[in-house]
Amino acid sequence: MKKWYAVIGDPITHSLSPFMHEAWFDEHEIDAAYLPIHVEPSQLEKSFEAMKTLGISGFNITLPHKRSIVPLLGKLEKSAMQMNAVNTVSFDGAEYSGLNTDGDGFVRSLLVHDVDKTAKVLLIGAGGAARGIAYALKRAGFMDITITNRTYRRAEELATEIQSSAITLTESEERLVEFEVLVQTTSVGLTTSEALPISLNGVKAGTLVADIIYTPLETPFLKKAAEKNCVTLNGVGMFVYQGAIAFEQWTGVQPNTEKMIQLITEKLGGTYVNN
Ligand code: ATR
Repeated sequence: MKKWYAVIGDPITHSLSPFMHEAWFDEHEIDAAYLPIHVEPSQLEKSFEAMKTLGISGFNITLPHKRSIVPLLGKLEKSAMQMNAVNTVSFDGAEYSGLNTDGDGFVRSLLVHDVDKTAKVLLIGAGGAARGIAYALKRAGFMDITITNRTYRRAEELATEIQSSAITLTESEERLVEFEVLVQTTSVGLTTSEALPISLNGVKAGTLVADIIYTPLETPFLKKAAEKNCVTLNGVGMFVYQGAIAFEQWTGVQPNTEKMIQLITEKLGGTYVNN
């Protein structure tokens, strides 16, 4: 019988997940559908019950439900436990379990750029997204992670959890030259403001500068990094790889990620450069 999958969120109309997963189902001739479903916070529990009744095989969860779905699930994978947030649910025939592929998605997007695990990484931000990435970097074997955040206490807390170190934003600006990889996870850059989370004046040319935002494709942070001759990486890769890990979990098939990064970049009005 045809299987069905979904992404739930509020809002949901702009999600690119249906485009991505439908394309992969087509490409691999898997008889399945993937629907965007608008679920308001007050309807989350009822909606989950309804989806289970209708035999959903798996789904993705986007804002604002990533945390509130946690108590509704019978089982959580390590990635979801560490983040206390779920972006993917899969059904093993008996129960629905939650995992979180956001952090691992980011790490894969980094590894395809041949980043060495001994690289000195500066993680900017200590919110939900940073948390997932910090744990995923740690799980992947990255050895030198430093966390900086506007609210220093949060950077310290996250650093303690993953046994790394924390520095203030000012200190990170002063020591920027030391880092080989910068990872921008804050919400600065999502709006039309030209503000940067930290100044990039001291960055070394050739540094890999990643921003997890993909709308816009080039945040002011990445624009500045490019001006400083850094290698830049936008959030499309993380988006595609978090989806690919979910797809693998559901189907056992590894989808074509490189082509999808190109398609999504073009869909967002950008030009794909394979670097
Ligand atoms: P998300 O789940 O997207 O990570 P979040 O948990 O609300 O969202 O975290 C937002 C991150 O962006 C935090 O690191 C936040 O810093 P604070 O902990 O100091 O709030 C950071 N952030 C948001 N606005 C910022 C700004 N104007 N300058 C610097 N950092 C900012």
